[in-house]
Amino acid sequence: MYRFLFTQILSRLDPEDIHHLTVRGLRLVSAAPVAKKLLHRRLAPRDPALRVQAFGVHFPGPFGLAAGFDKDARCVEAMSALGFSHVEVGTITAHAQPGNARPRLFRLVKDRAVINRMGFNNAGADAAAKALSRTRGVPVVVGINIGKTKVVPESEAVHDYVASAKQLAPLADYLVVNVSSPNTPGLRNLQAVELLRPLLQAVKEVADGTPKRTPLLVKIAPDLADEDVDAVADLALELGLDGIIATNTTISREGVTSGETGGLSGRPLKTRSLEVLRRLRARVGDRLTLVSVGGVEDVDDVWERLLAGATLVQGYTAMIYNGPLWAHRIHRQLARRMRRHGATDLREIIGRTAR
Ligand SMILES: Cc1cc2nc3c(=O)[nH]c(=O)nc-3n(C[C@H](O)[C@H](O)[C@H](O)COP(=O)(O)O)c2cc1C
Repeated sequence: MYRFLFTQILSRLDPEDIHHLTVRGLRLVSAAPVAKKLLHRRLAPRDPALRVQAFGVHFPGPFGLAAGFDKDARCVEAMSALGFSHVEVGTITAHAQPGNARPRLFRLVKDRAVINRMGFNNAGADAAAKALSRTRGVPVVVGINIGKTKVVPESEAVHDYVASAKQLAPLADYLVVNVSSPNTPGLRNLQAVELLRPLLQAVKEVADGTPKRTPLLVKIAPDLADEDVDAVADLALELGLDGIIATNTTISREGVTSGETGGLSGRPLKTRSLEVLRRLRARVGDRLTLVSVGGVEDVDDVWERLLAGATLVQGYTAMIYNGPLWAHRIHRQLARRMRRHGATDLREIIGRTAR
């Protein structure tokens, strides 16, 4: 049904128009108490075997929505009702900004991929805080992903991230420092340990100061050299971070023909994303929570990431090709697979092939 809708209609329309239309529809669902409760009852993960705890937070399942879909935290409840175990909103910047000029979102249908150069278009931390304070009705685990405002120079980046953190950390189940998007000039330089250390230290101070201590994670790029992945992992351990999200989109164009600039996501990212996860797990074991994202399409991918040591798995691009029931299906199939393997707790699966 969705495949028919996608090939016959959606794939012929502008991808960003479709996105805005979808978010508008989901906002309506979020604002409709009965609809969202019914959907949640029907589609949210409820098999006890899928429950997982990470950095002190209880997740009803391991599979969540990656950052970038709900940039302004406008439809978290609807996404939870559709079956995602958590919703990472953002990237949110301290100041509202329009992002790059359109067109800035491109489907690569044959590659099951997307290229985007959105450039952190968002309404700013204030607006996100207001939107989040209105959410109630269905349970939802919310991660808040923060980034640098484009016009703020690199030398003032720490101050800018801290401003967002002060406003948003108290509202988050976990907070993410995003230093890995390719569409804000210079942003990825912040992954260098000498710049990353003071940034993470400053944001951590804010996150540690909230009433229930907000867990803090850092999101990294797949384009880091392996030694740099190790260096960020060591730094995260040294600073007492809660976890690492790997990976963001890639600037590589390996295996695809499109020459559009921006970050590539979806199927072509799968191999590198898994490679980075394996490297991180080998480096940190279970001392940090690893969240794997990049090219996840189905339950096989989720299973593989869990075995390789991810406690949580996220996805975005494959939802464009698989439709709104994607997360629900993945959780349902995952529960079935666990039963087939005689597992009653995800802890029996996580990291099993990494030991
Ligand atoms: C249109 C689009 C916008 C994105 N925006 C953000 C963002 O604002 N912040 C962020 O950390 N990641 C962003 N991402 C990256 C995703 O969160 C994810 O890391 C990446 O797409 C790989 O996962 P996927 O292959 O399942 O899409 C975006 C991805 C897409 C496709």
